[in-house]
Amino acid sequence: MTSPLDDGLHGARVLVTGAAGGIGAAVVAAFVEAGAAVAASDVRSVREHPATAWLTMDLRSPDDCRRLVDEASAALGGLDVVAHMAGLLIRRDELDAVTEADWDAQHDVNLKASFFLLRAAGRLMTAQGTGGRLIAATSQGWWSGGYGGSAVYAASKGGLVSLCRGLARTLGAAGITVNTVAPGAIDTAMLTADLGDRALKAIVAATPLGRLGRAEEVASATLFLASSRASFITAATLNVSGGWLAY
Ligand SMILES: NC(=O)c1ccc[n+]([C@@H]2O[C@H](COP(=O)([O-])OP(=O)(O)OC[C@H]3O[C@@H](n4cnc5c(N)ncnc54)[C@H](O)[C@@H]3O)[C@@H](O)[C@H]2O)c1
Repeated sequence: MTSPLDDGLHGARVLVTGAAGGIGAAVVAAFVEAGAAVAASDVRSVREHPATAWLTMDLRSPDDCRRLVDEASAALGGLDVVAHMAGLLIRRDELDAVTEADWDAQHDVNLKASFFLLRAAGRLMTAQGTGGRLIAATSQGWWSGGYGGSAVYAASKGGLVSLCRGLARTLGAAGITVNTVAPGAIDTAMLTADLGDRALKAIVAATPLGRLGRAEEVASATLFLASSRASFITAATLNVSGGWLAY
């Protein structure tokens, strides 16, 4: 059965980053299910995936961001959508424990890479002349400032929201929309790896829907923003937190 949110996605050429991660893998699967041709990428390689192409790439290098866009476009015959889900969280319970290396690593992946990747994709889409969709994963931290020792991560994700608003302003003339999805607490390794049971229970208790989110639920929001249903939405940040944050 075809979902109404699949509109315009059949045959779309889609690059997904962070595809070895919990949310990225769900985004790849959802686009494939919607009939899109998908180039999946991560710094880690995986044995099995449903995508048309797998491209192993470390996004911390601006040259590799550019190369990824070129290789994805070559593999798919062009690019209509980028779903940029790659991200890095380093929790430090004490502010004094944060090192310069922690700061750099999170800003390099979450913010710097996003600029060079999305700029390259915007340039390619502009040259194609058929518009496009750029969607990046920010975090509830962009709004809340972060919980559980994640102030630096939150700052990088806040920067990502501002960046995408700026890109939306610039690329709108070429028919390219730029939006972010802001997951709340989603049940993936990034959330559960170093948060204790008590912290997770406290999050669930503060979430009106009374549970953690599923990666597939972030994928649905991402597909919506890539679909023709979202044709007049740009510079937006879609809150996918089960009401944990209300805005
Ligand atoms: N899980 C949550 O609760 C949650 C909440 C808010 C935001 N997010 C955001 O959603 C996105 C997906 O998160 P997830 O839960 O799937 O996390 P995850 O850790 O499972 O996946 C993140 C992926 O990004 C990849 N990555 C990291 N550094 C990279 C680099 N230098 N180059 C290329 N790829 C790199 C990792 O290898 C990993 O596969 C991230 O941007 C994350 O910040 C997640």
